[in-house]
Amino acid sequence: MEWIHDYLPYRMSDNVEELQQDVTLALLKSTYWAAERSEETIMNSWKESLCIGLFSAEGVQVGFMRVVTDGATFSWLCDVIVDPEHRGKGLSKWMMAVLVDHPRICHTSIYLGTRDAHGLYEQYGFLRREMMVRSTARYLNRH
Ligand SMILES: CC(C)(COP(=O)(O)OP(=O)(O)OC[C@H]1O[C@@H](n2cnc3c(N)ncnc32)[C@H](O)[C@@H]1OP(=O)(O)O)[C@@H](O)C(=O)NCCC(=O)NCCS
Repeated sequence: MEWIHDYLPYRMSDNVEELQQDVTLALLKSTYWAAERSEETIMNSWKESLCIGLFSAEGVQVGFMRVVTDGATFSWLCDVIVDPEHRGKGLSKWMMAVLVDHPRICHTSIYLGTRDAHGLYEQYGFLRREMMVRSTARYLNRH
């Protein structure tokens, strides 16, 4: 699917083939949560995910988000990022509006973990809840 912004020169696509690998890797490597992931792990994470790319009028990718979902009951939203030069224009809000209506996940419960952007997600119906996690690091340390 593809979405064109009403008045800003941006489009979004959920075609994983359109992702600009180097740009997406650079965006994710700049974050606090994915900086330690290898490029191989990051690229593997796209294969089974719903990935949405945000593109400028020049065709350059300037944002990304990813959802892991069973398509029926559960989705996990992660890796939400907008290029710093394109922030503050409402683009992540547009991405969230598109995401919560996306036909693959609009009928599922959507979870996410975030350190500091709660106010963004609260605008799209997310509530603050506690949950348990078994982290990869803990799993790896035991084997
Ligand atoms: C968070 C991020 C995606 C916001 O992108 P953006 O396109 O600049 O955001 P928008 O212009 O759409 O506005 C975001 C809205 O969420 C709110 N918000 C709440 N917490 C925020 C935060 N930590 N950072 C940015 N906006 C935040 C803003 O106030 C704004 O709402 P308002 O317009 O009603 O005031 C972007 O700053 C980013 O990529 N940050 C680095 C990666 C990151 O932290 N991702 C989210 C972690 S899960």
